[in-house]
Amino acid sequence: MSPAQQPVRSDFAGRLRSETRTEHEHVQTLPFLRALIAGELEADAYAVMLAQHYFAYQVLESAAEVMRSDVVAGPFVSDRLRRLPHLETDLHYYLGPDWREVISASEATERYCERLREVCFDWPGGFVAHHYTRCLADLSGGAVIRSAMQRSLNPPDGQGFAFLTFDDVPSRPRVRNAYRLLLDTAGWDSREQKRITAEVRLAYHLNTEVFTDLGRRLPPRIPRQRGA
Ligand code: HEM
Repeated sequence: MSPAQQPVRSDFAGRLRSETRTEHEHVQTLPFLRALIAGELEADAYAVMLAQHYFAYQVLESAAEVMRSDVVAGPFVSDRLRRLPHLETDLHYYLGPDWREVISASEATERYCERLREVCFDWPGGFVAHHYTRCLADLSGGAVIRSAMQRSLNPPDGQGFAFLTFDDVPSRPRVRNAYRLLLDTAGWDSREQKRITAEVRLAYHLNTEVFTDLGRRLPPRIPRQRGA
């Protein structure tokens, strides 16, 4: 590619990241995610989280099939980032062969899925906003969460972590950087970048509601006795 053919590179990825830093910091303070990172979650609670992700990814990955041929959103769609088959594997592992019959979407997850249906099928920027929020979350935070969960659940056969294991991703930082490059070169004008940033904020908000609801279902913490 000659320099004249290089797509013009903006600084959108960096701005998107810094303009949503507050939301990212906030979500990490939620009780459910704190328990997850501290390795304090029981397998049941983890399975309920996987189920909520399953409903969201069902919509997001159907949208990805539609957006695959879109000139702007298409390059963001990668089979390496697909999570639905891995969520199915884990749900089967934790809940057994009838897992589909026992899972249900919370009201917060329903609201999240409704927004995904509203914007991800016919607005490329809206699809990318939600794809970025969920996929980079699982790719980035996923590594930390995986080691915490492995410590707490310690499955004898090493199973139950397909969702957080990106076997097809040789290097997470490289995939993240490639994703950021796509954000920088998508060719959106500043108005569209602002619209996408607002949608990413909304995606954080909807995810926050999902995790807040999951936190309400956690058993109460038993304070440790002094000297124990
Ligand atoms: C306690 C849970 C979480 C931890 C420990 C965590 C940790 C991280 C880390 C270490 C990164 C990489 C930062 C970097 O590349 O410098 C990251 C990126 C990211 N996380 Fe999280 N995260 C968590 C939860 C979430 C949640 C719930 C969401 C969204 C709903 C989210 C969305 C993102 C996004 C979109 C990025 C990419 C930011 C960018 O590079 O533009 N994270 N996270």
